[in-house]
Amino acid sequence: MYFYGTFPEDFTWGVSSSAHQIEGGWDADGKGPSIWDNFTHVPGNVNNNDTGDIACDSYNKVEEDIYMLRALGVKNYRFSLSWPRIFPTGRNNSINSYGVAYYNRLIDGLIANNITPIVTLYHWDLPQALQDIGGWESNELIDLFDSFADFCFQTFGDRVKFWITINEPNVISRLGYGNGLFPPNVKEPGSAPYRVAHILLKAHARVYHTYDDKYRASQGGVIALCPFISWAEPKTPSDPRDIEAADRYLQFLVGWFTHPIFKNGDYPEVMKWKVGNRSELQNLPSSRLPVFTAEEREYIRGTADVFCFNTYSAKIVSHSTTRLRPFSYEYDQEVSVTVDSSWPSSALSDHRPVAWGLRRVLNWIKEEYGNPPIYIIENGVGKKAKSDIDDNARIFYYKTYIDEALKAYKVDGVNLKGYNAWSLMDNFEWVDGYDPRFGLHQIDFDNPNRPRTPKRSAVYYAEIIRNNGRAHLHHHQL
Ligand code: BGC
Repeated sequence: MYFYGTFPEDFTWGVSSSAHQIEGGWDADGKGPSIWDNFTHVPGNVNNNDTGDIACDSYNKVEEDIYMLRALGVKNYRFSLSWPRIFPTGRNNSINSYGVAYYNRLIDGLIANNITPIVTLYHWDLPQALQDIGGWESNELIDLFDSFADFCFQTFGDRVKFWITINEPNVISRLGYGNGLFPPNVKEPGSAPYRVAHILLKAHARVYHTYDDKYRASQGGVIALCPFISWAEPKTPSDPRDIEAADRYLQFLVGWFTHPIFKNGDYPEVMKWKVGNRSELQNLPSSRLPVFTAEEREYIRGTADVFCFNTYSAKIVSHSTTRLRPFSYEYDQEVSVTVDSSWPSSALSDHRPVAWGLRRVLNWIKEEYGNPPIYIIENGVGKKAKSDIDDNARIFYYKTYIDEALKAYKVDGVNLKGYNAWSLMDNFEWVDGYDPRFGLHQIDFDNPNRPRTPKRSAVYYAEIIRNNGRAHLHHHQL
């Protein structure tokens, strides 16, 4: 059932992207290599051996990108800064003025067109030089990330008032260090993700405090982190064990980061209990889940001004009936859940549309964290097709997801402040290369000029924005 209504006047509509996925210019003007540059240059790592070397060539197309944003009528544009484009070696003794100039051009262009920049400091493209000293497994990264963030606040913060520290730290931890799908390709699911998450949380908190201490008073912005969330629906909603299993799934997926930040500075009880217990069964001297000191908990608690998240799909979860295997780090074993396999669980592209899951996720956040201001930072659908200009399935996705967001806001009283579509344009979809495509605009990757063409979904999304959420679907459109 559709709900008809509109969002409040100050609701912010936008689209999202990230540096490595669109910029190209991977070694232009002194940019240093990132872990993704190097990873994609090894044949066999990425679907079709695609790379982000040129991508959408956004490094050379500030005007073209702004033109698309203006045509959509967005109020904000969420993009990320490439750390190695600004600090080629990752450190602030190697500032690349061309990189800084690129982001200044982009930010100035946005402001001139009344488009608010939402800027992510870290969307996965770590400078290779920092991976070489241990990457996110090293505590040194806390200082180094802080020093990069400090530079960005100082340089861009007069115009940027909305910062995201880390995009999907939960995905970085699990895919970079658990199943090893993403660089640095560490496959230690039982321990490395927890260790890395511990450091990511400290790095996030450090950057938050730097903003608080040095910049907030003069710049007056907001800062948050942005986890990935899939709604977990209990398989049998009348079975309390499934309800618990679904909640446990969410705690392991997202509470891992948001419980410390939005609650008490510490991991969810169920995580401490489960991982601790299983570690004990393995005769380990201590839990594989690291422990925060009281001081660290105090430091981490409250380090987000708003609740940002990305979401694409949902999962069906039930309590685990398989015998406990303490030495298996398979996710279902670690969390004691069974994730329904009839809903494919591919890490990246298989985003089965489950619009009602968005309403439930929003309500879960509201209940769990005391009705914080919420921003949906990424939401969209990928399609495997070279050209999908007539992307009715994507129109349907946006129509239904935005309608469920509207119900959450209007009917359920969720404090929803903004919605961003992923993505502005087709782009480099990590290990999937240029297939599937998530864009509202099509990019012709065979053409060196990388022409941008609006899909029907772009026209549709522009209409949603114009009408502040109310979508007038005409018969000829679907
Ligand atoms: C990431 C994006 C990615 C999208 C679609 C999100 O997890 O933040 O970078 O393109 O999913 O797979």
